[in-house]
Amino acid sequence: PQSDAIVFFGATGDLAKKQIFPALLGLVRDEGVDVPIVGVAKAGWGLEQLKARATESLNEHGGADPAALARLLSLLRYVDGDYNDPNTFAQLGQALAGAKRPLHYLAIPPSLFGVVVSALAKAGLAENARLVVEKPFGHDRGSAAALNRILSAHFPEEAIFRIDHYLGKEPVQNIVYTRFANAIFEPLWNRQSVRSIQITMAESFGVQDRGAFYDATGALRDVVQNHMLQVLANLMMDPPTGEDHEASRDQKAALLKAVRPLDAGSIVRGQYRGYRSVPGVKPDSGVETYVAVKLFVDSWRWSGVPIYIRAGKCLPVTAAEVLVDFQTPPRPVFAEADPAVGHMRFRLSPDVSVALGLKVKRPGEKMTGEPVELALREQAAADMPPYQRLLGDAMRGDGELFSREDIVDAQWRVVEPILANPPPVIEYEPGTWGPEAAEALLGADGPWRDPVPSGADGSR
Ligand code: BG6
Repeated sequence: PQSDAIVFFGATGDLAKKQIFPALLGLVRDEGVDVPIVGVAKAGWGLEQLKARATESLNEHGGADPAALARLLSLLRYVDGDYNDPNTFAQLGQALAGAKRPLHYLAIPPSLFGVVVSALAKAGLAENARLVVEKPFGHDRGSAAALNRILSAHFPEEAIFRIDHYLGKEPVQNIVYTRFANAIFEPLWNRQSVRSIQITMAESFGVQDRGAFYDATGALRDVVQNHMLQVLANLMMDPPTGEDHEASRDQKAALLKAVRPLDAGSIVRGQYRGYRSVPGVKPDSGVETYVAVKLFVDSWRWSGVPIYIRAGKCLPVTAAEVLVDFQTPPRPVFAEADPAVGHMRFRLSPDVSVALGLKVKRPGEKMTGEPVELALREQAAADMPPYQRLLGDAMRGDGELFSREDIVDAQWRVVEPILANPPPVIEYEPGTWGPEAAEALLGADGPWRDPVPSGADGSR
């Protein structure tokens, strides 16, 4: 059954302003959500201030739909109080006005999860409730397991929704849809036909005002352990089987459990020049703002196929892309300098595309060719913001686009050897593609193929 109230802790925070209000507005506008929406925080605020914040957020982040905004504001309630004070939760109980299946969204630091979850249980607000939690989910394998124990003391696994907003992105869904709605790709999706895979998540900006958070995190934890490995799972998992609603997550878990843990020879860590003077960052910080890794999936299907993932701040563009490179012909038939190429490309952001790259003959006497791309989908931007999709799914109890306990554990298992013993960071100039050593990581599979946002030049 649908949740009959939404509670969001951290209501006065940054995430609420940037993501949660726009998502709530979308749910009210597009899905007719009409339940009490209760913000909770310790800020000395009142309801009017929260309404003003919501209005400000929606003016800044789109969705300026006056009728939907008025409806959202009429559903808003606010509870101000300390999470350690039982009275806060007594007030929350009143604000919920008899709701029987509330959804509690913890948009607060994980260090507060334990306090809030047990206070909810004590106040009788955990019963039949759902719990949505934000990343980061743990700092390593051990702390993620500890966090799971805290949550599962009061909520069953099927009531826990761990957000990885990448899973809510339309273009990430495109990967799964394209693969499994067309039978022609599966026979190619294996070690016989795929030579290597590259996944790039580039951001042209630095760590902005998140210095203290970022310096305790680094690129590997911030986006590779979660977002990039989820993309990889969507790209490489076996087709889901059976009617079970866990079918898809079971396949992702199986794939991620087969990823070989990283070793020091399979990673390049970089740090952009200037990072150490960002407020909140240690002056001698060894934290990476760029990371490139080489991974293998030890399964019959993927054995020996290298997967290269890179992610970084202060790179030349903001774009994310997946490139599946197919094998070259076993022996050349045409006397050409470049062997024939073939690839499948999924652009995840800022624009969305799915394209098949092949080579065709250049018109004329000679048997020489040129690369072309067949666009299966091209869109300037994704339609639905991920948080709207994810919150809507959580309200319906649909966990498919959320991370599961065993998936989180499998993801930490991949990066754990590096967390314990990271190789030193190499400095790179802001606006470049990271340290040169990242090129060497690819060896004969190189070079890295840089995503070019469409329209940035005419090359695609
Ligand atoms: C977040 C990371 O999870 O994802 C950020 O903490 C990163 O560092 C962001 O910038 C990227 O998400 P998106 O949706 O803007 O590509």
